[in-house]
Amino acid sequence: MYDSDKIIPGLIIFVGLMTFPIWSSIGKAEPKPEPKIDTPAINQMVKKQCVEDTHFMKTSHMQMINDWRDKVLRDGERYYTNSRGEKVMMSLQNTCMKCHSNKDKFCDTCHTYTDVKPYCWDCHIQPKGIKQ
Ligand code: HEC
Ligand code: HEC
Ligand code: HEC
Repeated sequence: MYDSDKIIPGLIIFVGLMTFPIWSSIGKAEPKPEPKIDTPAINQMVKKQCVEDTHFMKTSHMQMINDWRDKVLRDGERYYTNSRGEKVMMSLQNTCMKCHSNKDKFCDTCHTYTDVKPYCWDCHIQPKGIKQ
């Protein structure tokens, strides 16, 4: 037979432990990442905008650069046409990192915060030749 006196408190403790990482971080004053865009290339832009709109970039840049890689490596395509009708070279180094040459103050601020570690830099050169 069920012993609800034990099962229910047990369940509550179990659920509490499983969700601990979620609720323990609520209300904590973790500094939000503030990616910096003051690079030489971006400072020269009249209209400071990314390849696609900021919201899209924020949420989908990982997908976008994966698609770019597949298109370049599998289909031999080199150019991407963005929603503004501009042709953009599909390159991590020659496109993204040319504008965002401050990898540590841009890409890394978010990735460190969310604990994402893209392995791209094992092969791709980081801006400023930090690692080859
Ligand atoms: C022509 C210069 C340029 C290129 C090329 C470029 N970006 Fe951007 N990017 C910008 C600018 C300027 C902003 C800030 C836009 C704003 O503040 O609305 C930005 C914003 C972003 C954001 C959002 C940042 C935030 O604060 O939330 C991400 C993510 C991003 N870029 C990633 C990339 C990636 C990945 C690539 C390559 C696929 C790339 N960018 C290529 C200029 C560029
Ligand atoms: C506004 C914050 C922000 C900025 C700026 C940013 N990223 Fe990201 N990036 C993220 C988040 C969050 C994820 C994880 C998304 C997920 O797991 O679904 C991610 C994931 C990725 C991934 C996939 C990694 C993986 O292991 O799946 C790549 C590649 C990547 N980012 C490249 C870049 C590059 C290159 C730049 C700089 C040009 C950049 N990101 C700038 C927030 C950011
Ligand atoms: C094992 C080594 C290796 C790793 C790791 C790697 N790449 Fe690449 N990548 C390459 C090679 C080699 C090319 C082909 C270079 C060319 O033809 O221009 C390439 C090409 C690309 C291209 C298109 C061409 C260009 O100039 O950028 C993109 C975009 C790209 N990779 C994105 C990524 C992303 C994003 C990651 C991390 C999630 C990643 N790569 C990880 C080796 C690697």
